[in-house]
Parts: sequence; C-alpha cells; structure tokens
Amino acid sequence: METPEVLISRERIAERVNELATRIDADYDGIAELVLIGVLKGSFMFLSDLARALTIPHRIEFIAVSSYGDEESIHSGAVRLIMDVRHAIEGKHVIVVEDIVDTGHTISYLLRLLAARQPASIKTITLLRKPDRAEVDVPVDYLGFDIPDVWVVGYGLDYAERHRTLPDICEIEPVS
Ligand code: IMP
Ligand code: MG
Repeated sequence: METPEVLISRERIAERVNELATRIDADYDGIAELVLIGVLKGSFMFLSDLARALTIPHRIEFIAVSSYGDEESIHSGAVRLIMDVRHAIEGKHVIVVEDIVDTGHTISYLLRLLAARQPASIKTITLLRKPDRAEVDVPVDYLGFDIPDVWVVGYGLDYAERHRTLPDICEIEPVS
C-alpha cells in the first residue's frame, strides 16, 4: 500500500469543526440538552472535537452498525445494528454524527431507526460526503466537506482498521 497523501489537513479540519460547532450552538440556543449520537467507529475523533467545541449542554451516545458483506468492497446497501444507544431518546433533540456519507445507506437506516423512537428533533452531521457515490438521497444538515470518489483514511477513518489515527484526512489507493 502506498503512503497516504494529505487531502484535508488537521488545520482545515479544526477550522471547519469550530465553524460547525458555532452553527449548532446558535441553532440549538436555549435547549435543555442536545444528544450527540456518534456512529462507531469512524466518527469518534470528529465527535470528540465537535463536542469539545460546543458550548450548549449536550450528552454523548454511541451507536454501531455494520454493512452486510465486506465493508471495504461491495456495499449491498443492507445495514445491521451492532450496538444500540444506552438511553431513550424520546422527546430529546438528537444529532447523528457520522464520519462520512458514501452511498447514504447507513444514515438512511439510522434515521429510520431513531426517528421511530420519537425524538423531539433529529438532524445529521457528517464530516465528509462523497456526492458522486450517492445511492439514496439523505438529509445532511451540517456538512464538513464534499470530497471526490476516493478512499480516505485518518481522523477516525480506516482502511481495514489501518491508518485510523492519522491526524489529517488522507487519500489512499486501496489494494485488493
Ligand atoms: P454508506 O452507508 O455507503 O453511506 O457508508 C458509510 C460508511 O462507509 C462510513 O461510515 C464508513 O464507515 C464507510 N466509508 C465509506 N467511504 C469511506 C472512505 O473513503 N474511508 C473510510 N470509510 C469509508
Ligand atoms: Mg462510519
């Protein structure tokens, strides 16, 4: 595997995360508590930076899903729940925090699952999105960056569990 090449630097990520946090602070001004649901594992770094930049009261939850089939290759579009949130979200203001929206199936599944539990509101934030790969139309309320159809690693994102803790978002050439 070749060396990852920086696509989005840690400085640009930090700047964008702070901008998004400022917008969320303003949009949810005055609410009792916001529930941030991080989608494991990829969103953990983004979630931790975003949460620390927020000034409104918030709580952290995690949820884990998996795609049927090999995550790195063929995406069947079927998603299954691996780990649920700990606490009920009924009547709560919720934001689902994703690392990347690729085909859109994961976010689409999660929105259906969580909306059925009657939260007061539900929105989505994703650090990255690949518009060229969209298979289902999903609402993205807060977006970090649109990127081309390349495989990215770092800042929480992996390639077969590799490169997840690189501080920048990098592009790699996946090998099969
Ligand atoms: P979707 O259901 O196709 O939108 O897929 C979303 C999931 O696929 C993400 O949460 C990631 O786990 C994974 N994914 C898609 N593209 C990439 C990438 O370029 N790097 C790392 N993971 C990715
Ligand atoms: Mg993910």
